[in-house]
Amino acid sequence: MRRKRVYIETYGCQMNKADSEIIKAVLSASGYSMTAVPERADVILLNTCSVREHAEQRVLGRISQLRQLKLENPGLILGVVGCMAQKMGKELIGEGSGVNLIAGPDSYRRLPGLLETSNNGSSIDLGLDPEEVYSGINPRREDKVKAWVPIMRGCDKFCSYCVVPYLRGRERSRPADEILEEVKALAEQGHKEVTLLGQNVNSYKDGATDFADLLRSIDETTCIQRVRFLTSHPKDMSQKVLHAINESKSLCEHIHLPLQSGSSRILARMNRGYNKEQYLQLIRLIREIIRGVSISTDIIVGFPGETEEDFQETLDVVKEVGFDSAFTYKYSPRKGTRAYEFEDDVPPEEKQERLERLICLQRKISASKNQSLVGSRQEVLIEGRNRKGTTLGRTRTDKPVALQNDSELTPGDIVEVEIIGSTSATLIGCATSPLNHP
Ligand code: 5AD
Ligand code: SF4
Repeated sequence: MRRKRVYIETYGCQMNKADSEIIKAVLSASGYSMTAVPERADVILLNTCSVREHAEQRVLGRISQLRQLKLENPGLILGVVGCMAQKMGKELIGEGSGVNLIAGPDSYRRLPGLLETSNNGSSIDLGLDPEEVYSGINPRREDKVKAWVPIMRGCDKFCSYCVVPYLRGRERSRPADEILEEVKALAEQGHKEVTLLGQNVNSYKDGATDFADLLRSIDETTCIQRVRFLTSHPKDMSQKVLHAINESKSLCEHIHLPLQSGSSRILARMNRGYNKEQYLQLIRLIREIIRGVSISTDIIVGFPGETEEDFQETLDVVKEVGFDSAFTYKYSPRKGTRAYEFEDDVPPEEKQERLERLICLQRKISASKNQSLVGSRQEVLIEGRNRKGTTLGRTRTDKPVALQNDSELTPGDIVEVEIIGSTSATLIGCATSPLNHP
């Protein structure tokens, strides 16, 4: 009998991408094979995100498209997994929806059993498990150069707008020795970069090992060339972590530090645990300790009660900090969160307008930051080519670089590049010498 084929589509954050690699590992170990073509699949899984309504709408649209495949293949299992599965549960299985499997973020070990049951109807597993960190599962990765490495799961921060703590449960960390082994093995297999993942990596804890200790051990005991991490919470970012970055060669000089708002009044309503001055103080400290660091951020506009003055404060902080880049979002009310109880009182046109003003400002800042690098030399990791065939790489500070003289470069090469031009989104460079050919 041929092996059953699984097609997985992933929405949302990097954590979800890493989870899809865990799902692939679990299903491969149970005899399934993977396909990149939904029409050829026996099982279609959508690994979903609930952080904003827009993400959910996209998935609902995709479900109605994909269920058409059941007309030709009535045995097809259509499953929704991840945050939206956890949030909507049975609602997704309703009459005519076509969905016959629902599994939340802590249920992936049980997927093979759930798929068996789905053959004769539908199955649902939304058990949150405060211990689950998917120990012992070796994620099935496709990228040969860069790898995601989850180091913790869940979030205990309960920012008032955010649905994540309700869907992914409480914070728990993976054992440090297991993470070290995984990074060692990745380096030995030829990976050049790992990104350590968690909703709030700064609160990583395994016995006496905290996040800074973990970073230092990775740097000292593995030969991975580049280490990044996502996401940091300003309240939990310690000086110890900043010193670890500064003193460890493999730790890249880039920090993603969500600001969310520049108004202390709104930050308090968001339950972020810091105010504008504390955030700015932390930025100064980061820049003092880590030379040449780049800083990116997340910002929400139109949070309930955000006035024009509050928004102006956000613009002022953005100017003062001078972020290298920013992900910007319109506030989206999420049922079950504390902010859902607040009146969503910023009209949609106003949210849109604020978003555009913020994007416009950030674009100018990013452009001038990039422009200031023209003439400099940067260490660039080659990642691949774009559709036009241009070779692309990234600096240690996480800036994309398009290479001009690229004939001999292949993914995984680390080269020195002279920056000869820039836009707000990309640096343009010429490789000057290979830095490293292991
Ligand atoms: N509405 C808009 N943006 C949100 N984010 C989280 N929840 C919401 C929401 N309800 C944003 C935050 C977070 C990023 C991953 O998504 O900026 O840092
Ligand atoms: Fe959501 Fe806040 Fe936790 Fe991030 S830190 S996942 S925004 S609750």
